[in-house]
Amino acid sequence: MTKTDELFRVDGQAAIITGAGRGLGRAFAVALARAGADSILVARRADDLAETARLVAAEGRKAYAVPGDVTDPSIAAHAVEAAMREFDRLDILVNNAGAYGMGPIEDTSLEDWRRIVDVNLIGSFLFAKAAGKVFKTQKSGKVVNVASVLGIKAAAEATAYCAAKAGVIMLTRSLAAEWAPHGIGVNCIAPGLFKTDMSSVVFDSPEFLEQVMSGIPRGKWGEPDDLAGTVVYLASAASDHMVGQVLHVDGGSSVV
Ligand SMILES: NC(=O)c1ccc[n+]([C@@H]2O[C@H](COP(=O)([O-])OP(=O)(O)OC[C@H]3O[C@@H](n4cnc5c(N)ncnc54)[C@H](OP(=O)(O)O)[C@@H]3O)[C@@H](O)[C@H]2O)c1
Repeated sequence: MTKTDELFRVDGQAAIITGAGRGLGRAFAVALARAGADSILVARRADDLAETARLVAAEGRKAYAVPGDVTDPSIAAHAVEAAMREFDRLDILVNNAGAYGMGPIEDTSLEDWRRIVDVNLIGSFLFAKAAGKVFKTQKSGKVVNVASVLGIKAAAEATAYCAAKAGVIMLTRSLAAEWAPHGIGVNCIAPGLFKTDMSSVVFDSPEFLEQVMSGIPRGKWGEPDDLAGTVVYLASAASDHMVGQVLHVDGGSSVV
């Protein structure tokens, strides 16, 4: 292995990945396993987590499920406890769980708005706070938040989601400034269109899909594995001097 290869390894490290039951979160768990990390997997559906754990095990690493809702502060505490119990360490937090919703603002209920902000933004805060206790004590750790191109580019009828993801970006920057002196790296991925359950609202409508695709210079949507390199980069020593940055992985949709 070359010194450059070593920079991108996380052998023997332990990660917490939220929203790891399917979609991007499952791909993050597998990518980090291929780079050498064990993981604690969080989502509400235990059967989905079991399948992700199976895929991680197939890569020769361990994964344990902590089923629960990221908006419940006790779940973040359980996830950190599980990492310390099972692996005796915690090195990486991937704040990936998200919720999406569309509709005119006058039809958006307070409950829907709160749910979107709670899952995307408050969930990320709760997990960062819980993991941060370990990271600060050991003076190391990596936080990878997952925002969206819609945290930077506005979209009509997606106000709660856009506002929540813009919040995730500012959470990243602010927390990065706070924790960089403690040796903790905090950065963010802003995906464009990826084919997952969450984006089925786009893929189920040929008109909507055509409209979104017309704004992607590369002319392709992303598959979850297209983010493998990005999450490993931000979770590994390769990104040590990167502080509070947002990596746009979107086929170019944010540059036009
Ligand atoms: N797909 C895209 O095009 C796209 C684009 C930009 C950004 N993103 C962001 O990327 C992240 C992953 O999205 P995805 O497309 O992979 O979504 P997805 O396919 O819908 O998967 C979401 C995952 O999060 C979990 N989850 C949802 N709400 C949760 C909650 N309250 N507590 C715990 N887990 C929860 C889900 O499991 P349970 O339902 O079992 O809890 C599932 O495992 C999200 O933050 C999303 O906003 C996605």
